[in-house]
Amino acid sequence: MAPTARPLAVVTGASSGIGLELAKLCAENGHDLVIAADRPLAEAEGELRRLGATVDAVQADLATRDGVARLVSAVRGRPVATLMANAGHGLGHAFLDQDFADIRHVIDTNVTGTLDLIHQLGRPMRDRGEGRILIVGSIAGYTPGTFQAVYNATKAFIDSFSMALRHELRDSGVTVTCLMPGATETEFFERAGMEDTQVGQSKKDDAAFVARTGYDAMMKGEGDVVAGLKNKITTVIASVTPAGMLAEQHRRMAEPGSGKG
Ligand SMILES: NC(=O)c1ccc[n+]([C@@H]2O[C@H](COP(=O)([O-])OP(=O)(O)OC[C@H]3O[C@@H](n4cnc5c(N)ncnc54)[C@H](OP(=O)(O)O)[C@@H]3O)[C@@H](O)[C@H]2O)c1
Repeated sequence: MAPTARPLAVVTGASSGIGLELAKLCAENGHDLVIAADRPLAEAEGELRRLGATVDAVQADLATRDGVARLVSAVRGRPVATLMANAGHGLGHAFLDQDFADIRHVIDTNVTGTLDLIHQLGRPMRDRGEGRILIVGSIAGYTPGTFQAVYNATKAFIDSFSMALRHELRDSGVTVTCLMPGATETEFFERAGMEDTQVGQSKKDDAAFVARTGYDAMMKGEGDVVAGLKNKITTVIASVTPAGMLAEQHRRMAEPGSGKG
């Protein structure tokens, strides 16, 4: 695609859910886009083009160094105004029953690939002295995730990392915002193999609402934002609840078969 005068947004995990809604907000607000996901992106690409954006789509596994490199090369050195590190996935069931390759893919996507991308695209943003970074963490980062142990731990990492990076970049002109959704209506629970759990079957937040909450917080340059009042209350309570109690509550929500069936 030929470069345009519009600011560029890079959005990962834009094939569905929160990432697609974030990409739509970027397009509606005058950005061109580089989007990435592991599945074909033709549908998302068409939707975003209809909103007036020029779109480069990269199908790549962002759990790999090669996948991240392909996304970075699609940026072609253009200044990135907005970087949305959203790609991520869960993994239900007991740790010892999970396949280690799947465990590793969660860590490599949610943590290693996310950091690799921010490291590569964040440096030129800092050098230019401008830009906004939105990182999608989770309120799961507040709770030991019994029957989703690795996922919750990756989100604790991301929630913590985001705030530290924000403070490292305090005087740089680059803002860092962490969006922490609660359970949201997307393909997340199906992909994590958690459809038979209480949380998988619960009423969830709307992905467009969650994305709007994150987008607005990013535009205001806020440090972190929890989407929705109920989730805000959950995080306040979690901050003063013993970890063992939280882990037991999570068991009831996430244990296979804990849903109504
Ligand atoms: N839904 C929730 O309840 C919830 C709550 C808190 C936080 N979050 C976070 O929100 C973010 C978005 O999830 P979502 O709920 O919108 O789920 P989703 O509908 O499953 O979307 C996840 C997106 O990430 C992409 N992705 C996952 N692994 C990838 C990989 N290795 N390489 C490239 N792309 C990859 C997916 O692309 P492919 O389809 O190509 O794999 C998809 O576009 C995630 O970071 C998730 O942890 C979700």
